[in-house]
Amino acid sequence: MVVNFYRPVEVFFGEGALSKVGEVGRRFGFKALVITGKKSAKKSGALDKLFESLKHHGIQEIVLYDKVEPNPVDKMVNEASEIAVKEKVDFIVGLGGGSALDVAKAVSIVSSNEGSAWDYVKYPEGPRLIPYLNRPVICIPTTAGTGSEVNRFSVITNPIRKEKLVISHSLNYPKVAIVDPSLTLTMDRKLTAITGFDALTHALESLTNRVENFMAEEYSIRAIELIRKWLPVALEEPENITARRWMSYASMLAGIAIDHLGVALIHSLEHPVSAHYPHVAHGEGLAILAPYVTAFNYKGNPEKYALFAKLMGEEEKPHKAVDALVKFLEKIGLLKTLKDVGVEEDMIDRLTEDVYMLSRHSFLINPVEPTLDDVRNIYERAYKGEL
Ligand SMILES: [Fe+2]
Repeated sequence: MVVNFYRPVEVFFGEGALSKVGEVGRRFGFKALVITGKKSAKKSGALDKLFESLKHHGIQEIVLYDKVEPNPVDKMVNEASEIAVKEKVDFIVGLGGGSALDVAKAVSIVSSNEGSAWDYVKYPEGPRLIPYLNRPVICIPTTAGTGSEVNRFSVITNPIRKEKLVISHSLNYPKVAIVDPSLTLTMDRKLTAITGFDALTHALESLTNRVENFMAEEYSIRAIELIRKWLPVALEEPENITARRWMSYASMLAGIAIDHLGVALIHSLEHPVSAHYPHVAHGEGLAILAPYVTAFNYKGNPEKYALFAKLMGEEEKPHKAVDALVKFLEKIGLLKTLKDVGVEEDMIDRLTEDVYMLSRHSFLINPVEPTLDDVRNIYERAYKGEL
């Protein structure tokens, strides 16, 4: 078997890495667009440090777009892209959780090509437009979960169509990732848990789906080991920098793994949930669906699910993967049902249809190819809490 391994993103990793941003930014020019969320990067002081480093290295002109919210919408990408064009910025810095990084990467494409954000998302039939230019992006994560800083994906929601889709293109890679684990110290307990579980789901799905790449799977395996060990510690001791460091690292590894291997049915079933119910965070939706999808999937790849169970501290048997997830979710406080987070039972048909309309290309790489009845059944179980 011939496998491919391609890493176009330069990484700076370690406490204090944020101070590198000015030096790195200077490679790309003198005028920056900084994209971030409304509050946390300001409150934690990270945004001030970012500005300080840029200015210290001669980047005097900094334009700020600070309107990114969780489950970011296409309008944010379009607004920030207009600013990038109007202000003629040389490069873009994304500072924040996955949302800010995903928007920064998408702005790179939308501000450099024709059309708007929704033209570049990938429907099963493909995107409407193919980009051919981009702007340099530096990604600086303040959470440990998405791995967006090292891959080609931006997840964007269209609130009018109630669709959540992915921009996936080689021009959507950031040029540089600055991963500074000290920036994650201010995450609260819930954010730590849901972002950490997103990373675990990336590792689980990339390991167990039908795409094979033993080099990338090493990253999934290591990420699972690290998250199992360090996420509970980060939750109990939020100031424990060792736990935060390993979580930042694991999130990055899992982000690289999905870049080569993709995700599978847990992500495909989650996206319609947070598209229709934007108050549900991505990681929270994944946590609800993961045990039910795994119960459906494990027979399709017994060897890898047994490995997952073992890595999570269970007996090395495929069906133990489900127990491992349930126990871990209980431990990190995320064992819930769709009903618990406000999903309405009569929406299950619509969610099922959306999985087919928007994500059916993932059925082929899922360990077991599902029918629409299977998808509906998984949603129903996750609604009622019937494993
Ligand atoms: Fe994810």
